[in-house]
Amino acid sequence: MNYYEQSLDALMHAYGRFDVTFDHGEGVHLYDVNHKEYLDFFSGIGVNSLGYNYPEYVASMEKQMHRLMHISNYFNTVETIEAANCIKKATKLDKVFFTNSGAESTEGALKLARKYYYLKHGKADSEVISFHHSFHGRTTGSVKLTGNPNYQKAFGPLIEEVQYATLNDLDSVKSLINDKTAAIIVEPVQGEGGVHVCTKDFLQGLRQLCNEHDIALILDEVQCGMGRTGTIMTYFQYDIMPDILCMAKGIGAGFPMGAFVANEKFASAMQPGDHGSTYGGNPMAGNACRTVFQIIEEKNLLSHVQEISEYVIEKLDELKDRYPCIKERRGLGLMIGLEFDRPVKDIVKSCLDKGLIVVTAGPHVVRMLPPFIIEEKDVDQMIHILESAIQEIL
Ligand SMILES: Cc1ncc(COP(=O)(O)O)c(C=O)c1O
Repeated sequence: MNYYEQSLDALMHAYGRFDVTFDHGEGVHLYDVNHKEYLDFFSGIGVNSLGYNYPEYVASMEKQMHRLMHISNYFNTVETIEAANCIKKATKLDKVFFTNSGAESTEGALKLARKYYYLKHGKADSEVISFHHSFHGRTTGSVKLTGNPNYQKAFGPLIEEVQYATLNDLDSVKSLINDKTAAIIVEPVQGEGGVHVCTKDFLQGLRQLCNEHDIALILDEVQCGMGRTGTIMTYFQYDIMPDILCMAKGIGAGFPMGAFVANEKFASAMQPGDHGSTYGGNPMAGNACRTVFQIIEEKNLLSHVQEISEYVIEKLDELKDRYPCIKERRGLGLMIGLEFDRPVKDIVKSCLDKGLIVVTAGPHVVRMLPPFIIEEKDVDQMIHILESAIQEIL
């Protein structure tokens, strides 16, 4: 059996995997077991913001592995405390809870908002507002927050009382708010749902509504945070603050970890025994996180993301002008969606065959989440491959 056949044999069929088996990565490139090179414009779903084998990151993780890998949350480690301080400084929020994934971050954020509601009202009957086409994870709590019935239908009854509003339509939110609403959860840029960007008026309107009704505004920046959109957190471009923030993916740049972070008002609802995680924020994770923050700052990566994303957008807009089958180019920074007037599955597959990794976000959208370290020559190569893939489907 080749590796693809072995994977079908040994792994649960939960993913529609491509027939590619990777061996290693270097910079913005991946290499499969047959030594074929791929230009990576996907970063393992927006995780590998530093690309592959980033020297300072690898050296730091190697050193940490020798010192201490895991110790549990009964004790402190310097790495975890320093990582939390980095997050506090960057997010301008007050308290951090470390998780191991994005779904755990959204679940934890939900529990925190519900606990605040419980302390205030003395009853556990809260509701939450989420959005159609949102994505917040696959655990039974987070999949209910995810506004896509396809991900939910086989797994009921689901546990959370969640109502779905329409993105960028404040009236649709207002009509759902009631005395039991504990939280509104939203991605400033919807990723899986097709790369839809919240308008400034909308997010500021949500902030206002949450203030008026004492509701937690939860921003899910699992995909769009940690510099991907050109600021360390996307909400800084909207001049608002969340009450609770969900982080993951780029926070560890390859080491599996996440966090939910809150202002003092909501964080103070959390008491010993309310929540926990064996691994959450262990010294390896803490070290990954503090190292990523350090590298982003020292290498001026946010400025690079801002500059290179302008070049990507310029080139994609030129491509759109050449091919009317491209309906819209959306996104912020290095979180980009290209909507076509037809299914894009074949375009994505053809790109892969030609050595470029992009993926879909819904049937008609090609999604790109390249590493922050891409250069103009990588963008030119991406455009060249994508264009030849488009020509094949015309
Ligand atoms: C916005 C958002 N929230 C939550 C998640 C879930 O993260 P994970 O797959 O790490 O559980 C994702 C994953 O793509 C995401 O994009």
